[in-house]
Amino acid sequence: MDVVLAGDLDAAERRRWHAALAPALAARCPGVRLWDEHDAFDPAAIEGAVVANPAPGTLAAWPNLKLVQSLWAGVDRLLADATLPAHVPLVRMVDPAMNDAMAQTVLWAVLALHRGFFAYARRQRERQWRVHAQRRADEVTVTLLGLGQMGLAAARRLVPLGYHVQAWTLHEHPAADDGIVRAAGRDALEPLLRTSDVVVNLLPLTPATRGLIEARFLAALPKGAGLVNVARGAHVVDADLLAALDAGHVRDAVLDVFATEPLPPEHRYWTHPRVTLLPHAAALTDERSAADVVAANLAAWRTGRAPQALTGWVDRARGY
Ligand code: GLV
Repeated sequence: MDVVLAGDLDAAERRRWHAALAPALAARCPGVRLWDEHDAFDPAAIEGAVVANPAPGTLAAWPNLKLVQSLWAGVDRLLADATLPAHVPLVRMVDPAMNDAMAQTVLWAVLALHRGFFAYARRQRERQWRVHAQRRADEVTVTLLGLGQMGLAAARRLVPLGYHVQAWTLHEHPAADDGIVRAAGRDALEPLLRTSDVVVNLLPLTPATRGLIEARFLAALPKGAGLVNVARGAHVVDADLLAALDAGHVRDAVLDVFATEPLPPEHRYWTHPRVTLLPHAAALTDERSAADVVAANLAAWRTGRAPQALTGWVDRARGY
């Protein structure tokens, strides 16, 4: 079986991925040959593709492709490729190490918003020695949008800190006795927002969630709420968020993702005093653990496991 690595990777990243994937595949999938998309291989021999947002059209060039494993957790860019062969199963990256990294970022942002540490950072720049009131965690409601692998990892760490944790999903989620209040469907969103001190977006980007965080959404939040976007930039209508920040309705935003990445130098987010931004670094794919996830999926698939049973199988109709 021939497998190819393809995607939006620079030379160093490409080397690191090959170095991580080669031993993982050798251990779990003996006989698999790993190519790079820039190598001279027979396109008809390629049966598996391991991809990081490949250029549109790339996957259509391999006529016998049978499985696509994404190195990214979010597959919105991959699904936007109109030439993506419809019959080829797609698997997204589900990696416990990445979930941990995301949960850490969410904890940092929630703690900093709850305790007003971003406000203290602003005051430091102005040499202002001023203390504000300190709330208890059980006085703070955190709403997670999305309760997938990463949402759950974050929510499960927020509960023991004492926060009221609620999660909103578009579709019903199985109930669980884990201290997370669940609500599903469009109509359930606004009531949750009205009680949210902090909203954390971890939704997949689909036509149903694009632009979800817009003026009405933001207006439903109590004055002074915080927003954390660690999902996709296109979930947010930037002009509406900037207006809410300027008006002080949203006190602080922590943004990791943007409609255009890298964020253009002239964008207001760079210098907005109430925005803390990260360069899409909330949860990087960890090559070591991710290579093992890839190899395990390929090994399972080679033994005849149905694609739906692979870790991270993407339901194309649902979009994640
Ligand atoms: C990062 O944003 C990813 O989707 O892996």
